[in-house]
Amino acid sequence: MSYLFTCCQIGAEKFLKHELSELAPQAHFAFSRPGFVTFKFPEDRPATDRVGSQFDVGSAKTNSFGSITSSTRPCGFAPEEGVPKSIFARASGVSLERLTGDETQRIEKIVKELEDGDYQAFHVWSRDEKPSGKSGYEVGPTEEDDRVANLVRSALPSSVRNRLLINEPVVKGDRVLDCTIVDPDVWMTGFHRATFTATCYPGGMINLVMPPEVVSRAWYKMEEALIWSGLPLEPGARVAELGSSPGGATQALLSRGCQVLGVDPAEMAPIVLANPNFRHLRGRTTELPKKEFRKIRWLASDMNVAPNYTLDAVEDIVMNKQVSIRGLILTLKLVEWDLAWNIPQYLERIRSWGFNVIKARQLQHNRQEICVAALQTPFRRKS
Ligand SMILES: C[S@@+](CC[C@H](N)C(=O)[O-])C[C@H]1O[C@@H](n2cnc3c(N)ncnc32)[C@H](O)[C@@H]1O
Repeated sequence: MSYLFTCCQIGAEKFLKHELSELAPQAHFAFSRPGFVTFKFPEDRPATDRVGSQFDVGSAKTNSFGSITSSTRPCGFAPEEGVPKSIFARASGVSLERLTGDETQRIEKIVKELEDGDYQAFHVWSRDEKPSGKSGYEVGPTEEDDRVANLVRSALPSSVRNRLLINEPVVKGDRVLDCTIVDPDVWMTGFHRATFTATCYPGGMINLVMPPEVVSRAWYKMEEALIWSGLPLEPGARVAELGSSPGGATQALLSRGCQVLGVDPAEMAPIVLANPNFRHLRGRTTELPKKEFRKIRWLASDMNVAPNYTLDAVEDIVMNKQVSIRGLILTLKLVEWDLAWNIPQYLERIRSWGFNVIKARQLQHNRQEICVAALQTPFRRKS
């Protein structure tokens, strides 16, 4: 038997299990804790199975949550790489060992594995403590992660230490020894090969440092969405954001040289209004003339409304004859967790507007919501 481990936001476990049941029907749900779920694979799992890039949907089909799977392979991902294309798995890998008992011995086992195995990096992180946002809890690296990383670093012989990245981002193709701190005295080791951007970071968490002038935590979501999605927003790109107040996400776009049209009935922060590349359309999306979007090529939405409301508003703009949108970055708020069952329909609706490349992920900085990135390629402007 082999096992796959996955980490997710607390509350997302049942949707993660559903995704895995579709991506790998041969896997069975095994040990779990809130935010940490494992799956058992039979021994005869495919050994060379691979998936294409997330932005390559040519001959691929999606599982019901929209993760891209190959139609010609028995399993939706490569078990030996440990990275299913899942919306809710923030991190994953092939399980190795459950480490308990004396901490020094746990560290010794990790050191031995790093000495003997073919690894380019060691990543350690803690499973989430609470649901994201609960009592101010922010998902992210912890002091305990640093402490364990430092213990491993100090215990490694210098010849091994010098060739390893420890809790630093790797490049695609690197093989990483993972350690999830499931409980203070239960560590689960595993490994994965970095395949797409988020898998290069410890625990799938991109370490972002918010500049002091940023006015809201939505900056994190936009930064993470841009890095994860790889959408080709170039300096000068014209972007509209629906639900832009007070302006953190807009600041992330402005800092990349984008020109931003912010749509929101609420006020924008003065520092955002002062930027010459920003214009505020004060009002609700439904109240605005569509000609305002004629020159816009990218549409972002972060409105605090139910997904169908967001999708109605976006559809109204995208399908207008005067408007040509190349790509989308949408936050879909799961105002109730059970709205996650509708994700396949949401993604299908977006696809029906002509976006042929779609991916979705519950980002580290998403609360009870997911991020959808969509691209029309090749891009055809409406005349
Ligand atoms: C989560 S906040 C947005 C945070 C913002 N993206 C930032 O970077 O600071 C949600 C916003 O959606 C706005 N909103 C809600 N319904 C809207 C609508 N129909 N049209 C435009 N904005 C709307 C709210 O006024 C609120 O400012």
